[in-house]
Amino acid sequence: MSRSPPVLPLAPGSTIGILGGGQLGRMLAQAAARLGFDVAILDPEPDGPAARVSAHAITAAYDDPKGLQALADLADVVTYEFENVPAAAVAQLAALGVPVAPGPAALEAAQDRFVEKSFLNAHGASTVAFAPAASPQEAVGAMEQVGAPALMKTRREGYDGKGQRWVEHAPDAARAFAELGGAPVILEAAAGFRRELSIIAARGRDGSTAVYPLAENHHEGGILRRSIAPARVVAAVAEQAERIAARVLAGLDYVGVIGIELFEMEGGRLLVNEIAPRVHNTGHWTLDGCEVDQFEQHIRAVAGWPLGPTHPTARVEMLNLLGDEAQGWLKFAQEPESRLHLYGKREAKPGRKMGHVNRVKPL
Ligand SMILES: Nc1ncnc2c1ncn2[C@@H]1O[C@H](COP(=O)(O)OP(=O)(O)O)[C@@H](O)[C@H]1O
Ligand SMILES: [Mg+2]
Repeated sequence: MSRSPPVLPLAPGSTIGILGGGQLGRMLAQAAARLGFDVAILDPEPDGPAARVSAHAITAAYDDPKGLQALADLADVVTYEFENVPAAAVAQLAALGVPVAPGPAALEAAQDRFVEKSFLNAHGASTVAFAPAASPQEAVGAMEQVGAPALMKTRREGYDGKGQRWVEHAPDAARAFAELGGAPVILEAAAGFRRELSIIAARGRDGSTAVYPLAENHHEGGILRRSIAPARVVAAVAEQAERIAARVLAGLDYVGVIGIELFEMEGGRLLVNEIAPRVHNTGHWTLDGCEVDQFEQHIRAVAGWPLGPTHPTARVEMLNLLGDEAQGWLKFAQEPESRLHLYGKREAKPGRKMGHVNRVKPL
């Protein structure tokens, strides 16, 4: 049964539902609690990082109608911490009268790398050359289109560099296609970037927007290792990034925080690598380096509150703590410049994001 939509701005004491209960959900829940909201988490795994700091936790698959009904019974609005939420789940919640933000356009664009890059190009945001392939033969043909070497990526479900293979020569593309499991892929031209940057941006229910200073990002093996923010960039680069963010936010009729990963090319031109319709790892520095951090900003946006100021208050080096590295918590706790954020994950696996440290310096 459908019900009347919530009154916005959502009053403290209301409940915000979050699909996904990892570290992003946890930090969203902590921000929501600070503003007086209760949080209901839906996640297939029990006892996750977000569930343990939230008022309500539902253990169910994302497409389980009973779990979604339970979430709808609790939550006044729903958001998500990761972009692979099934479209049908969002549709069911909407049919039950619970608004989901960001909306379906953002999910559709972010779930498929071919749709994503096509959307970006159509909205005046440049990317590397790319071509789709759904068979070994098409993969070889796509290679010839984008040039060698090329990066083959599964169209769906990749993260932290998973589902990707570099292909040096066109004939090797057939084998790489098989190695990635035979799912539809795209081939991307090698970016040859000078640096990786990102911009975290937000759009409110009223269409107002806010952007954070750029972060400079360093990856290892496809996983974010560290970010430095505010990045030292010339004004023209910052302006380009803000223009890209404005186009993406408007093009998706977006509500919430978005992370936009950028390649800075020689000469300062920016290409978009990918968009993440959620709070983003390269925005974790805002927890200790900005007036209103990305997590509170996202909660404000989905709750229909005014967006908060995004000015930097410090220069931050954000270091992801992967696998066993979080065991160094005592060392970080002894460093006066370090702000430690641990996610409470029960098990440390290699490459797993267990926490992060923000090393704070004066601006
Ligand atoms: N076309 C490309 N050329 C060069 N490097 C790339 C390209 N695409 C991705 N990378 C590198 O791989 C990393 C992960 O790729 P990305 O597309 O962001 O996937 P994920 O969804 O796993 O984050 C990027 O941050 C960048 O360092
Ligand atoms: Mg990425």
